[in-house]
Amino acid sequence: MDRYAVLGHPIKHSLSPEIHTAFARQTGQDLEYEAIELPVTSFETRVWQMFRDGFRGFNVTVPFKKDAHDFADELTERAKRARAVNTLVQLEDGRILGDTTDGAGLVFDLEEQLGWSLENSHILILGAGGAVRGILESLLESNPAQVVLANRTLAKAEDLTDDFPEIAPSSFDELEGHFDIIINGTSASLSGHLPPLPEGLITSETRCYDMMYGKGETAFNRWAREQGAKECADGLGMLVGQAAVSFEIWRGVQPEPESVLKELRGQLK
Ligand code: ATR
Repeated sequence: MDRYAVLGHPIKHSLSPEIHTAFARQTGQDLEYEAIELPVTSFETRVWQMFRDGFRGFNVTVPFKKDAHDFADELTERAKRARAVNTLVQLEDGRILGDTTDGAGLVFDLEEQLGWSLENSHILILGAGGAVRGILESLLESNPAQVVLANRTLAKAEDLTDDFPEIAPSSFDELEGHFDIIINGTSASLSGHLPPLPEGLITSETRCYDMMYGKGETAFNRWAREQGAKECADGLGMLVGQAAVSFEIWRGVQPEPESVLKELRGQLK
């Protein structure tokens, strides 16, 4: 049976094994998918060993996305620009290809599952860390009218324009104007905190997306709903979406993410 795994540290709460096992069942693919916690310092040697042991591919999560980027022999354009890899696959000739599917997963969730059109829309992204870098390419490919990127540390938002000149960097307190979609990519939600956003940013026309997810509503989405946002969604759909793109890279068949998302949503209630 073909073996795959998600690699991270920590990893025990990962939903990826459940998602990929459901995709395999759905599409009749004979594969095994597990979660493996690696020590933070031995990514390269451990991954080589696992490929030698017969693993066919990996998902890679925090804190190894940069290690996976450096490990790959070949990178897709979007992985080069993101400087991060979340999917590794061994090619026919034995070389390892690195790709990043987070952005495609987010766009799939926004456009296909939620029906939030990105084309010609005014988008505000909060945060300038690795998670945000990974989604910019796919968002920009969706032809938005404008992408503003605000970060607590303005210099980090400005640095991103080296690789993504299309974005407009901003601090939080200088934010102004109307946004159709606001995406929270800061890690503030993890600790239940909110980025310091100015009053009046959210209107009844604003849709808000938190790339984080968990049991119940995230701190950002609660705040956005209280400010009168039109709709709010969390990042569970992005998680299932990125998994679907990775699955297709490995197996060449497209799974159907909607039913898996519904099942997970039920469990997280
Ligand atoms: P990740 O891989 O999750 O993106 P990261 O690279 O450490 O993690 O980036 C974390 C992001 O969340 C950064 O944009 C960070 O802002 P700074 O660049 O100013 O550090 C942002 N962040 C974390 N906690 C925050 C908070 N309490 N308020 C606002 N922004 C926060």
